[in-house]
Amino acid sequence: MALKLNAFTIQSPRFALPQMASLRSPKFSMASTLRSGSKEVENLKKPFTPPREVHVQVTHSMPPQKIEIFKSIEGWAEENILVHLKPVEKCWQPQDFLPDPASDGFEEQVKELRERAKEIPDEYFVVLVGDMITEEALPTYQTMLNTLDGVRDETGASPTPWAVWTRAWTAEENRHGDLLNKYLYLSGRVDMRQIEKTIQYLIGSGMDPRTENSPYLGFIYTSFQERATFISHGNTARHAKEYGDLKLAQICGTIASDEKRHETAYTKIVEKLFEIDPDGTVTSFADMMKKKIAMPAHLMYDGRDDKLFEHFSAVAQRLGVYTAKDYADILEFLVGRWKVQDLTGLSGEGRKAQEYLCGLAPRIRRLEDRAQARAKQGPAIPFSWIFDRNVGL
Ligand SMILES: [Fe+2]
Ligand SMILES: [Fe+2]
Repeated sequence: MALKLNAFTIQSPRFALPQMASLRSPKFSMASTLRSGSKEVENLKKPFTPPREVHVQVTHSMPPQKIEIFKSIEGWAEENILVHLKPVEKCWQPQDFLPDPASDGFEEQVKELRERAKEIPDEYFVVLVGDMITEEALPTYQTMLNTLDGVRDETGASPTPWAVWTRAWTAEENRHGDLLNKYLYLSGRVDMRQIEKTIQYLIGSGMDPRTENSPYLGFIYTSFQERATFISHGNTARHAKEYGDLKLAQICGTIASDEKRHETAYTKIVEKLFEIDPDGTVTSFADMMKKKIAMPAHLMYDGRDDKLFEHFSAVAQRLGVYTAKDYADILEFLVGRWKVQDLTGLSGEGRKAQEYLCGLAPRIRRLEDRAQARAKQGPAIPFSWIFDRNVGL
């Protein structure tokens, strides 16, 4: 009998757009299950390799003299970016939305939470779990910010406004995973052990969003991502409301409003870069979009499903929580937010980047419409996060 080994997923960098087209025709290559007797035993002894980035990883692409720009706007960042952080005393905490374990009413509150959760379909839980796992890989995102030249937290407690922002941003974000994790645990609807394994795998895999230590690329990436999470948490809030679970809607909506505040801060930084260095910023923006914005949890794995992220994305797309249309909308929003169309005095390369960016969203939409027209209804597949119950893709 052939033993099924853990096949490892090799993610192609092309798999960055949450497009159904790419979901239906996988662009990954996968190690095949080994079948010959002696090899199986040999391979079982080898430690499992979690999913990993396979593209060529580029480092320090920003000219070193540009580091000075970030030093020179520290005063500006202090006044204009740190104001988008909320003082801890004014922040919500996960406990504000959860049954209080120290109160007499705890058990009753948990019972009510579970009653409400019963009305919510499995497919919604798949998406909510995927969103929670994405939030829980926060160490990866703090690491990513600290790869950026000129703005990284050099000591772990650096007083520069960039470092202060990164730590406080991380501390705000940390509540998102905590709250969703505790809610899902109490709901009784999901396989917590499988979810916890997925988180462990994902943090172990890390990610390279191809920002090349450049704060230009890094802040364009985070602007995009904050808006993407704002949209997806906003949509899970809307769905929860439709299922009649107003408390869960409030949880997702509260997280979405944090993401919106973060989006405001990151897009402001990039706006400032456009002001100081329009050429460098517009070419960085085009570069980032050519490489495509990789989703932070794209290396997701649960020890079973080699295409877990692909499958999770397909459900999110079908439910309208995060879609290829959202990708194009975010791009269009950022092009408008940074007034890319109106930039003047650009170099030849800058003008090319400008032209590329201004035509990109309609182009993505056209491709997506064609892909949608070709796409067939996906099969139903088991998700370990919900005890292997089937959900349609
Ligand atoms: Fe978040
Ligand atoms: Fe965020």
